[in-house]
Amino acid sequence: MPKSTGIISKLDYIASLGVAAIWLSPIYKSPMADFGYDISDFRDIDPLFGTLDDFKLLVAEAKSRNLGIIMDMVPNHSSDEHEWFVKSEQKIEPYTDYYFWQPAKGFDPNGAPIPPNNWLSVFGGSAWAWSELRQEFYLHQFHAKQPDFNYRNPAIVQELKDILTFWYDLGVYGFRWDAVTHMFEDPALPDEPVSGNPVDPNDYNYLKHIYTQNLPETPYTLSLYKAHTDEYSLNAGDGLHRVMMLEVWNPIEEVMQYYRNVSDFPFNFRFLTTMGAYSNGRDAENAIRGWVDNIPDNGWPNWVLGNHDISRVGSRLQLTDGAILTTLLLPGTSINYYGEELGMVDTYIPPEEVVDPAGYRDPPRTPMQWDDSQFAGFTTGPKPWLRVNDNYLTVNVAAEEAADESVLKIFRKLVALRKEPAIQFGTLHTTVVSYELVLAYAREAVNATDRSYMVVLNWSHDQTHVVNLSPGAFGAFPFEITNPTVEIRTIGSDIPYDNFDPSAFTLKPRAGCVVSFNAVRK
Ligand code: GLC
Repeated sequence: MPKSTGIISKLDYIASLGVAAIWLSPIYKSPMADFGYDISDFRDIDPLFGTLDDFKLLVAEAKSRNLGIIMDMVPNHSSDEHEWFVKSEQKIEPYTDYYFWQPAKGFDPNGAPIPPNNWLSVFGGSAWAWSELRQEFYLHQFHAKQPDFNYRNPAIVQELKDILTFWYDLGVYGFRWDAVTHMFEDPALPDEPVSGNPVDPNDYNYLKHIYTQNLPETPYTLSLYKAHTDEYSLNAGDGLHRVMMLEVWNPIEEVMQYYRNVSDFPFNFRFLTTMGAYSNGRDAENAIRGWVDNIPDNGWPNWVLGNHDISRVGSRLQLTDGAILTTLLLPGTSINYYGEELGMVDTYIPPEEVVDPAGYRDPPRTPMQWDDSQFAGFTTGPKPWLRVNDNYLTVNVAAEEAADESVLKIFRKLVALRKEPAIQFGTLHTTVVSYELVLAYAREAVNATDRSYMVVLNWSHDQTHVVNLSPGAFGAFPFEITNPTVEIRTIGSDIPYDNFDPSAFTLKPRAGCVVSFNAVRK
């Protein structure tokens, strides 16, 4: 692939956002049954995206712009076309026990094999698939083309360590770890109990996954990879902290088990799982406090607004600029899905165009909207893999660069503010005013001479609220707000940058802003 194509050609744009690293969803060799989450070679790049040499160039070009490349690690399964599985199916050593094989529980009157138990796949239906060749079932907690590894086999644990080393040697800054809670299952294979959820018996949510998810062996095994990673960094002596961030959707107490020596952080999905289009300021505060108040000592917070598995924030919360305003100045790492910085929304995909094996994840995965040319400038090929959103004529990078006010410009300003001492180290205070509708949070500078920051957002869809920011007014904050200046405002909010009256600050529905000020302790 020539240097001018692919992500390499977009690095200047990504660097211009001010972000530190790019997480790529899987680009390894794959038959693409689950768009790369079915890996057939963990040490090569799929031709769809380029070659290993292109990848090396990408790492180098990114590095020269101070950007790190973070890969997706899929520890739970491989593709059924992976050489290990092909050999495992034939019982060729040492691969015989690389996967989770089980004999049939019996055979029905027609001679069809009966699965070992009632376990279900996340994508629906039995989690067991029969191999004619091996005359056994294999477990697949996702697609049948994604057989689960057998983590009780130390050889698998070691294989993955070697794969990590392979990519660290190529210069990757770390990994986003996919579906980690599925790594271990109860070897006694008990049936899982019914959850009581009113769903089809083939639906994953029909059962309570107490024997297939979040077993104690999982965080332990991940801690081995964390140790391996930290040891690599120590030996490399390059001062680089190689990051390990984990996909864990479980209840908060379970999620927190993945901190400490297990990873740098499990993803914080509070804004994805606890909020919707009609959430108010109190819900937003709960999403924030639910994480910071539960995190273990010295745990590093993080905030996820969207990803490739869930409706885009602009559709889910019907708000993009207000949402990024709410999360980008919180303590810790901010993880943003491509196009969120433009306000891209979900795209309706007609049934005949659905490509996702789970069926519902295409709408947030449509092409990045670069400009108003054909296919939004995403491809010069005959057609993109998913249709482009109709709004691409106005919601695109080029248009938003040119506009006076745009989500892109707000995003850049917010990222730039993240370098401020108060955003890096300041104390977080949160409060909710105006009938639970307005969330305000502050990052109080440690050093009183540094500027402090406050984010205020009116979550109401239809009510304007007048907020009083004058000294002494914000009862919940232990300081007075002096010398305030509006730094950033949401689109169409009409909040004056200059000469505004801090005691009567008018916030239209869904409008908000970032205010800098000097905090004076009461
Ligand atoms: C994770 C990924 C998802 C994928 C699944 C199976 O949930 O985010 O996209 O389908 O794991 O690997």
